Amino acid sequence: MGWNTWNKFGCQINETVIRQAVDAMVSSGMKDAGYEYIVIDDCWQSGRDAKGQIVADPKRFPSGMSALGDYIHSQGLKFGIYSDAGKLTCGKRPGSLGHEYQDARTYASWGVDYLKYDWCSTYTQDAKSTYETMSDALRASGRPIVFSICEWGLNKPWLWGETIGNLWRTTDDIYDHWQGKHGFEHGVMDILDLQVGLEGRAGPGHWNDPDMLEVGNGKMTLEEYKSHFSLWAVLAAPLMAGNDLAAMTPDIKAILTNKEVIAIDQDPLGVEASRVAKQGDYEVWARPLKGGGRAIVLLNRSSASHTITATWNDLHLPSSLSLKVRDLWAHKDLPGAKGSFSAEVPSHGVVMVRLD
Ligand code: DGJ
Repeated sequence: MGWNTWNKFGCQINETVIRQAVDAMVSSGMKDAGYEYIVIDDCWQSGRDAKGQIVADPKRFPSGMSALGDYIHSQGLKFGIYSDAGKLTCGKRPGSLGHEYQDARTYASWGVDYLKYDWCSTYTQDAKSTYETMSDALRASGRPIVFSICEWGLNKPWLWGETIGNLWRTTDDIYDHWQGKHGFEHGVMDILDLQVGLEGRAGPGHWNDPDMLEVGNGKMTLEEYKSHFSLWAVLAAPLMAGNDLAAMTPDIKAILTNKEVIAIDQDPLGVEASRVAKQGDYEVWARPLKGGGRAIVLLNRSSASHTITATWNDLHLPSSLSLKVRDLWAHKDLPGAKGSFSAEVPSHGVVMVRLD
């Protein structure tokens, strides 16, 4: 869990933006809710020096990356950075190709705890061996660094990523939109559809990454943001907030810090949900939890509210079983259920419950 600059700020980043995010992470209660990594995405680099050492843009980061890392650590958070497996990043800054070990050593010396490694300008490079090289370089740096494989699912990283990285993107980029593709960018529902069938690949230490959160970026409704967050949690996805933490409204903060939903995301069993039922626009997603419970998301993609039912049959449970029901957004216990659980779900909304 953490925060990343890209979805909100793109290339418009500097050390003030990062420090403000760090401060807001702490003061807003996001840190208490479990968010930990502050990740600086593309465009922090300006070039390489005569020794080939990567240089942070001195205008945007005049205090340097080591000082920024110290500040992040001083607030009890962890420091993430970004590079690219090719010659150039997507933002046309220097990538790490040919400098993998040197860059890994530099990051370690700055106190970096997390590397997101992108896939622009890689041409004919082999994905697995390319990511293996940086993985080896990070290990050789002597500092534990979470490795985020960002090759957009092009080469099925879920088949080879487990021993190389800790998370891998399963798709192209998300954007702040409910449904519909726009070039490289996918709406939340488009990304969700692409997770079906990948669930068996995720587990503790090696996660499917359906991309970062758009919650709070302004182009979706609160209902849609609640759905986005609930679905990412049931998918056991990395929860990387992507909004302006320093300017967050109370409604958005309440979504991002819903501890009952976060507990589902972080459940120690680490099993990703599967879509156990789908009838047109009405879906049921479910994941088993440590201790024998289950998390259920009823999703209504349609433009009108609708009653959706999860049957125990869908959940592979005996229909005679009586279960306790906890509503994770209303924060209250509902009447117990036997054989099925039904609820009225708003348009583009979810009902998320825990069954025990
Ligand atoms: C493509 C990645 O998929 C995005 O998440 C972001 O890192 C941009 N590149 C940065 O250029």
